[in-house]
Amino acid sequence: MKNSYSNIFTFNKKILWKTIKSLNNRGLVGLPTETVYGLGGNAYSKRAVKKIFKLKGRPRFNPLIVHYHNIKDAEKDVIINKYVKKLYKRFCPGPITFVLKKKITSKIDPLVSANLKTVAIRFPSNKITRTILKKTDFPLAMPSANKSTNVSPVNSLDVFDEFKSKLKIIIDGGKCKIGIESTVIDLTSIPKILRPGVIDKKNIEKVLKTKILTYRNKGKVLSPGMLKKHYSPGIPVLINQKKHDGKSAYIYIGNKHKNKKNFFSLNEKNNLFLAASNLYKMFRIIKNKGYKKIQINKIPKYGAGIAINDRINRASKF
Ligand code: TXA
Ligand code: MG
Repeated sequence: MKNSYSNIFTFNKKILWKTIKSLNNRGLVGLPTETVYGLGGNAYSKRAVKKIFKLKGRPRFNPLIVHYHNIKDAEKDVIINKYVKKLYKRFCPGPITFVLKKKITSKIDPLVSANLKTVAIRFPSNKITRTILKKTDFPLAMPSANKSTNVSPVNSLDVFDEFKSKLKIIIDGGKCKIGIESTVIDLTSIPKILRPGVIDKKNIEKVLKTKILTYRNKGKVLSPGMLKKHYSPGIPVLINQKKHDGKSAYIYIGNKHKNKKNFFSLNEKNNLFLAASNLYKMFRIIKNKGYKKIQINKIPKYGAGIAINDRINRASKF
């Protein structure tokens, strides 16, 4: 693809080499993953990690996810237990993040996990990013490639919208297939979901053959990404809306309002997985069309619908 953006690149050998060089020099790059685009930097380098927090405008108490090519690489930095072994075998590489105990010998910069004794790790399945992870001799600290509290990017152009030319390399990998962030699960004691994703509680319980807990926000911040206000499209979002107000963008699932002005279906066939993958894209489209407000109809609370409800709930805390 030829494009008019000097910092968005199609993946090839030359850009692979440039990306590795930049990462080795503690630079940051925008990379595609199957969930959302990430802002990657060397997780062992304080300078690179500092740059990530600065560029995102992210509070230092909100820890980052460290991305690896495989579990053998991760074993150098975190304690691998029976839960992670089972979940890795079933779901990885894929859209799930494990919070584990950090090894004393780990080279991960303490800033990555906000000085906690744990680290969140993930094995993304996107081929481009896996190639890059294979070629570096350090893992990548990689939050979603958006300014703090904004909606995560699902296209290379979304990343450009967030950081413009402040980021020298953005690799285009097309639209992210999953389209919302990975499930985050704490495996340091009884497994507990900290952030719902398309791999849901039932999928995980089936593999671990045990009941798992779900984090409920009672004011205490367990996983700082669970901050109330997050994933904001920059205009007010109202949820559980039964009636359209006549002028706002109205998001729903199904085909009841097909071809009607101001109505946006997340998926016409009521597929929650595909609906989740369209949510952030739709937020950006609606914002760019100049709407002043978003109304969202009730979204079912099962499967990927749980993750959708989590994100729209936070988006509504504008
Ligand atoms: O799908 C994804 O996970 C994307 C792609 C780029 O990999 N990344 C992503 O990163 O969503 P970020 O930084 O936007 O979200 C990281 C989440 C936050 O909710 C953060 O609080 C949580 O992971 N987290 C990171 N380290 C943690 C830790 N040690 N304990 C608890 N939660 C942690
Ligand atoms: Mg994020």
